[in-house]
Amino acid sequence: MFGKKKNTAPICDERLSHIAFIMDGNGRWATSKGLPRSSGHAAGAKAFKNIVECCSRIGLRHMTVYAFSTENWSRPKEEVDRIMKLLSDYLDEAERMLDKYDLRIVFLGDKAPFERGLRKRMLEIEEKSSKGKKILNIAMNYGSKSEIVHAVNSALAEGKKTITEEDIDKNLYTKLSPPPDLIIRSAGEMRLSNFLLWQAAYSEFYFTDTLWPDFDEKELYKAIECFYKRKRRYGGLG
Ligand code: IPE
Ligand code: IPE
Ligand code: MG
Repeated sequence: MFGKKKNTAPICDERLSHIAFIMDGNGRWATSKGLPRSSGHAAGAKAFKNIVECCSRIGLRHMTVYAFSTENWSRPKEEVDRIMKLLSDYLDEAERMLDKYDLRIVFLGDKAPFERGLRKRMLEIEEKSSKGKKILNIAMNYGSKSEIVHAVNSALAEGKKTITEEDIDKNLYTKLSPPPDLIIRSAGEMRLSNFLLWQAAYSEFYFTDTLWPDFDEKELYKAIECFYKRKRRYGGLG
């Protein structure tokens, strides 16, 4: 799974088809450099682009990034406004990568609260990339609890009287992807912050103190190397 030379890129084999990223630490990165928090979000968008490219090159088939949570609306209005502007930069970055990496972009979360222009672009990008083979889920206005409630309500609307795990699986925003094999969180916090609660039932976790704007190819390979050393037992004896 790793090249012969040390520090060469890993290759994703059948054990690793989906990595999810909690891209945290943009604000602290900026503050530590005496910069406004918005510069941290801009630097975070660059790291996002780089990591999507790395993941595509090493053959990862599914990737999910947490870009904006349902709870992030509670930040001061100026910060939310700046982030909204930068989300549109994320979309530019993502759009430029579509063809090169054969990406299919799916936005996880309710698009309704976004401003009309942004919403329209999100729909256009989903439509334009719908034939892509590698899935890039971008969680924007995403909250896992509301995703689960949404999935249950969708199953009820289909006429289901009792709900099974499969009903929930197939109505989640992430329905095109298997559950994440690995969830990576940058910036030192060891929590999920309402991210993929259902899907993470048997995911492996990797936490690093590195702040998201500094999360690079080397950090990614370190996390993957660590993942390949884990023994996943799923409650059995392995
Ligand atoms: C993650 O960085 C990006 C978003 C949540 C939008 P933060 O803005 O949470 O950065 P810290 O955690 O305050 O450093
Ligand atoms: C999680 O980070 C959400 C994103 C990275 C988009 P937060 O910064 O919002 O999480 P908490 O507040 O530290 O739990
Ligand atoms: Mg944070």
